Amino acid sequence: MEFNLVFEVYFMIHLQQYLSLEQQSQVIQACREVARISPLYTPKMPSGKPFNCQQTSCGSYGWISDRSGYRYSEIHPNTGKQFAPIPEIIYNLSKSLATQIGELDYIPQTCLINYYKSSGRLGLHQDNSEQNLKPAIISISLGDDAVFLVGGTKRSDATKEILLKSGDIIIMNSESRLLFHGVKKIIPGTYNLLKSGGRLNLTIRQVY
Ligand code: SIN
Ligand code: MN
Repeated sequence: MEFNLVFEVYFMIHLQQYLSLEQQSQVIQACREVARISPLYTPKMPSGKPFNCQQTSCGSYGWISDRSGYRYSEIHPNTGKQFAPIPEIIYNLSKSLATQIGELDYIPQTCLINYYKSSGRLGLHQDNSEQNLKPAIISISLGDDAVFLVGGTKRSDATKEILLKSGDIIIMNSESRLLFHGVKKIIPGTYNLLKSGGRLNLTIRQVY
């Protein structure tokens, strides 16, 4: 009898309640300052359908999506200006996390900020717009809990649900760098340092 069982299991790093309440409110404040220069907006998918979350970015580049596809741009699509710089607290946090996973020369070049209202979600996708797919993606969750989905390296792979709470960090590096992931739902009113409710997610990326 012949067995041909192949399991592909890749683990992403999930640091639960990594940020203190004080750090969480400092990061939220930093996001507010970014949004004053580079406001949140609702991007459209290449199909023209609006996203179920609002976005902005900070850093040398911002991730954008429109009829021309997914890509990085040096210009905010609504202001026509450069994105706000990455706030020091976010820069330092990402450098410290990258160092802890052995990525000593990690360069935080952009931070995508997603804001989800209670009905917000994000379809299953891979983070693959970066020209350099080696450096880690570092993700910070703030505000309401979210049911996060993690799959495999193929869209059709089975997914697993992970509850992400305020202050949690997800790191997608090495084997887990290209795992499909998404946000199934937000659990409203679970927790809130965000006066408006909802959830903020920050993903710090090295693009080049
Ligand atoms: C993203 O994949 O861009 C965001 C994920 C999240 O909101 O946790
Ligand atoms: Mn992503």
